[in-house]
Amino acid sequence: MAPEESAEAESLLPSFERRFLAARTLRSFPWQSLEEKLRDSSGPELLLNILQKTVKHPLCVKHPPSVKYARCFLSELIRKHEAVHTEPLDELYEALAEVLMAEEPTQCHRSYLLPSGDSVTLSESTAIISHGTTGLVTWDAALYLAEWAIENPAAFAHRTVLELGSGAGLTGLAICKTCCPSTYVFSDCHSCVLEQLRGNILLNGLSLEPDTTAPERHPGHNAHDAESPRVTVAQLDWDVVTAPELATFRPDVIIAADVLYCPETVVSLVRVLQRLSACLKDQQAPDAYIAFTVRSPETCWLFTSELGQAGIPWEAVPHHNQKLFPYEEHSDMAILKLML
Ligand SMILES: C[S@@+](CC[C@H](N)C(=O)[O-])C[C@H]1O[C@@H](n2cnc3c(N)ncnc32)[C@H](O)[C@@H]1O
Repeated sequence: MAPEESAEAESLLPSFERRFLAARTLRSFPWQSLEEKLRDSSGPELLLNILQKTVKHPLCVKHPPSVKYARCFLSELIRKHEAVHTEPLDELYEALAEVLMAEEPTQCHRSYLLPSGDSVTLSESTAIISHGTTGLVTWDAALYLAEWAIENPAAFAHRTVLELGSGAGLTGLAICKTCCPSTYVFSDCHSCVLEQLRGNILLNGLSLEPDTTAPERHPGHNAHDAESPRVTVAQLDWDVVTAPELATFRPDVIIAADVLYCPETVVSLVRVLQRLSACLKDQQAPDAYIAFTVRSPETCWLFTSELGQAGIPWEAVPHHNQKLFPYEEHSDMAILKLML
């Protein structure tokens, strides 16, 4: 391969790698660029490199994606290869045979590479909605908020962060691994989501404080490593949590991603923020960052008008350019900073 061709081919590799590890839809892969590269004689070499960066990636070998996803991806690679080369590539067929023998579990893994060289791996449901909740998979706003956090670590460093509606845990795990918070409280209302969340925290090498609602009651907990944040998981339902319960968290920063998906959750969220604001009057007001995908103008309007009625000022955080994670290019994302 000529040096300039080799450089071009190499830029395809990270693109395939990031998308495959995060199990993004197959149509989001740069297939057309791949087809162009496959026409030259070094096509098979490129495909073998792609195989190493995807199905054979050490993260995928340890924490595999869904069987169906790997099968469809390998079938597509084989199709692309056979469209231009007559000789079959054994390694692709061997990888496909291995995948065909595997059983399809209800959970799969997704991994995200962090700029530090570390990664976040999540066990998630293979279905977008299951057990009556949207919280068993990662949503794009979680990735968008994590990117913003990684660009702005000072907003979280040495602070207590309370996350509302944590879901699978992507944003919080990325913050814990890159932004040095002193305490991170993941929370959600759904028992299956909480169970999966605890598993994901442990999967990523963090330890969990034993008491899920009051980290400050364990100042001398000796299993804690001073380098990593104190991590807790709290069952916190915005509709039922009381002001005294909220006060025990004493957050410096409150975050939430993709929790504005219907009018009921918008209203519940604003009510809990209002209660948080009222019960934290004796400490410095926390910063709150709410990230969401703009799916309908009505929902955004409802959110800002509910904030107005609750007397919570807000401003839009400027869009960031840092695209670390693969998500829909065309989705319209926003982060609002609230002054509680
Ligand atoms: C669309 S998911 C987003 C999960 C995660 N933040 C993400 O972006 O990937 C919405 C989450 O909000 C949680 N949620 C919805 N209503 C809630 C409530 N009233 N109290 C607490 N959590 C709630 C759900 O259980 C779910 O995990």
